[in-house]
Formats: sequence, structure tokens, C-alpha cells
Amino acid sequence: MPILYAERIRLRASEREDIPLFLKWVNDPEVCEFLEHSSVLNRVQEEAWFERVSSGPRTELPLVIEIRQPDSNDWTSIGNLSFMNIHPVNLSAEIGIMIGEKQYWDQGYGTEAMRRMCQYGFEELNLHRIFLRVYEGNERGKAAYRKVGFVYEGTMRQARFHRGRYWDIDFMSIIKSDWVSNP
Ligand SMILES: CC(C)(COP(=O)(O)OP(=O)(O)OC[C@H]1O[C@@H](n2cnc3c(N)ncnc32)[C@H](O)[C@@H]1OP(=O)(O)O)[C@@H](O)C(=O)NCCC(=O)NCCS
Repeated sequence: MPILYAERIRLRASEREDIPLFLKWVNDPEVCEFLEHSSVLNRVQEEAWFERVSSGPRTELPLVIEIRQPDSNDWTSIGNLSFMNIHPVNLSAEIGIMIGEKQYWDQGYGTEAMRRMCQYGFEELNLHRIFLRVYEGNERGKAAYRKVGFVYEGTMRQARFHRGRYWDIDFMSIIKSDWVSNP
């Protein structure tokens, strides 16, 4: 897969060398407030994940989000995103994203990265449907996904136990025809 460029970001393949940075991000309580894992991850677990997605059938596509430093050709990693469970018959995939460097939140990078990934999914991987799960309270995420064109599909009520209570999980999706009419 070539590096995917957009206006201010690029998406490149994840490498083993990225693992320490991924660990820093997923173990930051603020970053993972709305992420799936609930326990601290260590290097062995992260390496096992990397081995699994790198060596098995290509059902996952974990990429690193990078931004260009002003007035230079250097790129800085600020997060990652991935297609998961790419389905060969249904032509569907789940998408997940994390901007791990919190100082870059709310600057449109998440929206831009998701938009570029959807373009790749629809125009190059020939996906028909891309969906995501977003946790109750993650208004930043929901706003970003709506800007990309994701629409609300439904709610799994009280599906997440976190901080002593149950929280809803929403599904959002974008279909290829949505994308074609409003890329
Ligand atoms: C969720 C995430 C991917 C969004 O990326 P981002 O670059 O911060 O988001 P963007 O700047 O593209 O868009 C965020 C939008 O949410 C809005 N927003 C922020 N906080 C908000 C709130 N509390 N309520 C409503 N809208 C809010 C912003 O104003 C912005 O909208 P605007 O551009 O119309 O002003 C990123 O913040 C992140 O990775 N967070 C931590 C991990 C996580 O939650 N991952 C997603 C799990 S589903």
C-alpha cells in the first residue's frame, strides 16, 4: 500500500518501531477514556497484536497518522487508525482511530485522517460499508465522524461498564453511495 497523503496529514503503515509510541498513547488515561481496552497494556501484548495483524490474512489495516512539521519535510506521528474485520463478501470494515498526542485534538486532524481512510476504503479497497462504535460521552468523536459523513445507526444500550456504571455504545456508518454523492 502506498503512503496516503491528504492536505495536512499522511497515513503510513505501522512498524514494529511504533510500538513504544502506541503504548504511551493507549496507557494515557485521557486518551483511552473512550477506547475499548480497560487494562494497562504492556509491550509484550502490543507486540503480540502487531505480530497477529502483520502475519495473518489482511483483515486489519493499522496505519499511523503523521503531520508535517512547519517549514520542513519532517513528519511527526500523532496517532493511528485502522480498518478491522475487513469482510471479503460483505465488503464492510470497522474503523477505529486514536489521536494519541492530545495537543493535536480539535484541530481537524481526526476528521481529515478519517476522510482520507474512507476515500481509500471506498475507492481502492472497494468497500461498500464502513462502520464504527463510539461510546456515550465521546462528543468530540461523534462530531468528527458526522463531519466525515457517518450517520447514527443505533445504540447498544448500557453495553459498556466503566467507572462504576453502564454506558451506551452507538453505531455509526457510511455507505459507498453516501461517499460518492458527497466525497
Ligand atoms: C476522537 C478523535 C479521533 C477526534 O479527532 P480530532 O482531531 O480531535 O477531531 P476534529 O478536530 O477533527 O473534530 C472534532 C470536532 O468535535 C468538536 N468537539 C470537541 N469537543 C466537543 C464536545 N464536548 N461536544 C461537541 N463537540 C465537540 C470540535 O469542535 C470539532 O468540531 P468542529 O471542527 O466543527 O469545531 C480524537 O480526539 C481522539 O483520538 N481522541 C482520543 C481517542 C478516542 O476517543 N478515539 C475515538 C474512539 S471512537
